[in-house]
Amino acid sequence: MQEKDLYPIIFQRKSIRKYDLDPLDEDILKEIKDYLQTLKPLHKDIKIEFKILSPNAVIRRAMRKAPHYMAVFSEVKEGYLSNVGYMLQQMDLFFSANGLGSCWQGIPALKKEGLASSRLKFIILMPFGKPQEILHRTKTSQFKRKSLQEISDIKGADDLLETARLAPSARNAQEWFFTGNEHLIHAYYRKPSFISGFLIKKYPPMDVGISLYHLKLGAEHFGKETEFIFDNPEDNNLNDYEYVASLRLT
Ligand SMILES: Cc1cc2nc3c(=O)[nH]c(=O)nc-3n(C[C@H](O)[C@H](O)[C@H](O)COP(=O)(O)O)c2cc1C
Repeated sequence: MQEKDLYPIIFQRKSIRKYDLDPLDEDILKEIKDYLQTLKPLHKDIKIEFKILSPNAVIRRAMRKAPHYMAVFSEVKEGYLSNVGYMLQQMDLFFSANGLGSCWQGIPALKKEGLASSRLKFIILMPFGKPQEILHRTKTSQFKRKSLQEISDIKGADDLLETARLAPSARNAQEWFFTGNEHLIHAYYRKPSFISGFLIKKYPPMDVGISLYHLKLGAEHFGKETEFIFDNPEDNNLNDYEYVASLRLT
């Protein structure tokens, strides 16, 4: 496995739900653990842990079995869900770049032994392993996504925003919105309604975190220096939206 340029993978990745159940070789698992050490946070001050668990630690509910599960645990602090999205998406792209399948999974839960593997709060799982279905998409038309006009009002940065548009999101809801300009992009999510908020409120900030990692990879691909800032401009009439972060490009 290699540390590859993950930018092209944005245009190819897809959720993989059928796996070869044979465990991966120990040396592959070691390389995955090594890569975990290199993940970049969105918020440096939030404690987070990643554990590789066996299927025995997972209550799968309706989901098919996978040979391995990446479990994410986090300190609960402002920004923790977008931080999880931002960091675990680095693994999703890394798996896909190295011939392995993965899928964000909010539905399964952990058994007691899984929960006991960290003192932090369990947030989400990502099964991974050798895929038993086609790993990559070959055209962006194969992604079921909203149009750029539906998710942003920024002009002149379509190639960059395309990376965020293609990001995965829970139930493919894509409740994100990007405003600002090509030098400073502010990221928001639509506030869930009272009822759906009760059921799924943890997902939209995580989804925006995922899209922000894609945006950062895109910006770097186009030769920009990037910096995240957390300062809601508040004058943009996005009343039904919650602010997550802004990406400065220079
Ligand atoms: C936070 C999050 C939670 C998700 N939970 C599940 C899940 O529990 N089960 C599932 O089959 N897919 C789950 N997905 C995968 C999405 O359904 C999928 O990313 C979306 O439909 C887009 O498809 P794609 O990833 O193939 O591009 C989840 C995705 C995200 C980002």
